[in-house]
Amino acid sequence: MPRLRLIVVLLALVPPAWSQNPGGFTPGAAGLGDPLYPLAGNGGYDVEHYALTLDYQPATNHLVGTAEIRARATQGLSRFDLDLRGFALTRLLVDGRAASFTRSGQELVVTPRKGIPAGKAFTVIIDYAGTPEVVTDPDASIEGWIPTRDGAFVVGEPQGSPAWYPVNDNPRDKASYDFRVTVPAGLTVMANGVLVSSATSGGRTTWVWHAAEPMAPYLSTVTLGVFDLSVTTLAGGTPSYVAVDPQLGSTAVLAKLPDILAFYSSIYGPYPFAAAGAIVDDARFVGYALETQTKPVFDRMPDEATLAHELSHQWFGDSVTLIQWPDLWLHEGFATWSEWIWSEHNGGQSAQGFFDQLYSRSGSVDAFWNPPPGNPGSPALLFSASVYLRGGMTLQALRQRVGDPTFFRILSDWAAENRHGNVDTPRFIALAERDAGLSLAHFFDVWLYQLGKPVGW
Ligand code: ARG
Ligand code: ZN
Repeated sequence: MPRLRLIVVLLALVPPAWSQNPGGFTPGAAGLGDPLYPLAGNGGYDVEHYALTLDYQPATNHLVGTAEIRARATQGLSRFDLDLRGFALTRLLVDGRAASFTRSGQELVVTPRKGIPAGKAFTVIIDYAGTPEVVTDPDASIEGWIPTRDGAFVVGEPQGSPAWYPVNDNPRDKASYDFRVTVPAGLTVMANGVLVSSATSGGRTTWVWHAAEPMAPYLSTVTLGVFDLSVTTLAGGTPSYVAVDPQLGSTAVLAKLPDILAFYSSIYGPYPFAAAGAIVDDARFVGYALETQTKPVFDRMPDEATLAHELSHQWFGDSVTLIQWPDLWLHEGFATWSEWIWSEHNGGQSAQGFFDQLYSRSGSVDAFWNPPPGNPGSPALLFSASVYLRGGMTLQALRQRVGDPTFFRILSDWAAENRHGNVDTPRFIALAERDAGLSLAHFFDVWLYQLGKPVGW
């Protein structure tokens, strides 16, 4: 072969570097590297808004959706991922032009016709249809889109949202949401935010909800079914939407909702969202409640402590949200301590009483004290009782250490300074040290990170 021909052939086989990366466009990462859920979320962009238009037929468990996602590139993107489980895609547009895509597990890999420059806003529109998934977690609990007798229980902590829409499923990428969900007339759709409208025609009802404040994807819901919905206004003017499955018994506990929110507002600072409420379904087989933003969802009629727990998450979990899942004690420890302080406020057992009772447990009860709440270690142990209880005890021990005025200032500063934001444990420790004027490194090391029953803090 003449030498010139050989060179031409080699050039054709090995494209020069610039043609693989014209204009500095590179693929967005398939995950954000969470220690427990490394593929959750995606690199290279931030979502600003999701507009979800859904049509659901409970009789066949068939979901038809259009997701319109407004995002901004944080790097020059040759392609990017979204998270989505299952479904057939019938249309995928980036900035109005058809884009190619491939699927691999929960990664939906989108290649737009042209690279997206860093800093540029772009829009993705995806039409999809199919049977939404029930996701089984490493701890054997279920989440995602869970069919019920009369609708669906829709929850996403920590990885259920891709079961019903394409999403950048990472708690650090908060966005606003619009929901437009059509179901058979007679069913109620309860999504996050304020109710914009519900209109029936041809035997189908379309429910429109708007969630203006930033929301982590795992807190989104469109739980639907037969519900009695009552809409009231709280003292500060916030609309409250309480939906109850009529199969359930006494709703008396729900009358406490305004008082609980008022109490937490008095100690943690203003309620962080434009809507409040609760979604009380009859789905006991799910086995847990979730602090879905603005309206927690319950799998049964909650007791007062559980109602208080989920409402307190609106401050700690929903408004102030972890960056990485191993810091879950910042949600569950705080919500557990919030149950105790609500009890104390009402003349029931004091938070110190709860602490003393739990602290009396033997150090040899490994599963009570471990894993240490600041480091659950594996996804199967993320929701361990120690994350909740030893996490709550950490706060009560801090209260003992710094005294009430400083302690309550720490909590309200934490809520105010990180409102609608994302946080990690070192940031909490730094804030506590600042407000207390003390070094608390040893204290938090013993309570959050050391194996076994805390001693000598
Ligand atoms: N965050 C919920 C609570 O308030 C618990 C969610 C549990 N989810 C799970 N997949 N295990 O306690
Ligand atoms: Zn909780």
